[in-house]
Amino acid sequence: MKNFLKTTDFSRPEIEAIFDLAGKFKSGEVKEKYLDGKSVALVFFNLSLRTRASMQIGVYDLGGNAVILEPGGTSWALEHRDGAVMDGDKTEHLKEFVEVLERYTSAIGVRTFANLQDWEEERLDPILSAFEKYSTKPVINLESAMHHPCQALADMLTIRERFGKRKKKVLLSWTWHPKPLPMAVPNSFALAAAQFGHDLLIAHPKGYELDGELMREIETYTADNGGSVEISNDIDSAFENIEVVYAKSWGASQFYGATEKDAEFRAGLRKDWIVDETKMKKTNDAIFMHCLPVRRNVIVTDGVIDSANSLVIDVAENRLHIQKAIMAKLIK
Ligand code: CP
Repeated sequence: MKNFLKTTDFSRPEIEAIFDLAGKFKSGEVKEKYLDGKSVALVFFNLSLRTRASMQIGVYDLGGNAVILEPGGTSWALEHRDGAVMDGDKTEHLKEFVEVLERYTSAIGVRTFANLQDWEEERLDPILSAFEKYSTKPVINLESAMHHPCQALADMLTIRERFGKRKKKVLLSWTWHPKPLPMAVPNSFALAAAQFGHDLLIAHPKGYELDGELMREIETYTADNGGSVEISNDIDSAFENIEVVYAKSWGASQFYGATEKDAEFRAGLRKDWIVDETKMKKTNDAIFMHCLPVRRNVIVTDGVIDSANSLVIDVAENRLHIQKAIMAKLIK
């Protein structure tokens, strides 16, 4: 049994095999029903379009049955802390939730965002870790506080489709956003880019640094795979000669516990950090990528997202193919 909680849970050869199978699902060359007679639980603590639809359809395509559960919505509110006195609004402990589900299903997919309240606690991914602790079946991370590995592999597959195996100059650019946001997507994108040996430039205003431990991991994978990683706080020069622009807003650890009304957070809104036509003209005819959903004319202008270089819909399609390949690998 193996979980998929972050991209580094798979080695490069394992990811190459997943890419190969995803490509064969996409072309129609492989139609094998890897999940024939099996069920997969998909647990959503948060909203979703792409992840929910692509996982449900992916399980169906593989001949299986998806059971969607929404704790606190259409299923009981869950307590995940060990030893908790459950005299509040949480009706069921995650331990029983998992132990019951695994009697019915062959794997559990989990979406559980950061609550953006307590950085030191949430950077340890407590809810996803509880699923990992209690489940004897594979757990698939469908976006947690710290990682969105299915998204990152779909991102890397999309870059591979466009450019082949050559390493590229890749920009992960912070963008402004009216609300504090989690870090899972930039964390996983940067880590996966390091695994693939790309030359990665991470651009963000001061104060929006990614987690220090994660950065050390990114540096290790970069060194091992022949790539490079640099940080820039200068939006104007960051786009020069770039071949892949990946835009994403993310929160700062200092703003965990803040709301969009917080004066310091509002003062830090940098509306010049938007991907627009002027910045894209500085690139080496770069493709534009974003995980979606995206706020138009906040994160990216209409002109860029609607341009021929925008691959946002291709990325979303690749979520389906890559997740089918991940499930085929994990669920035997
Ligand atoms: N990119 C992504 O995970 O989209 P959803 O939040 O709609 O699932």
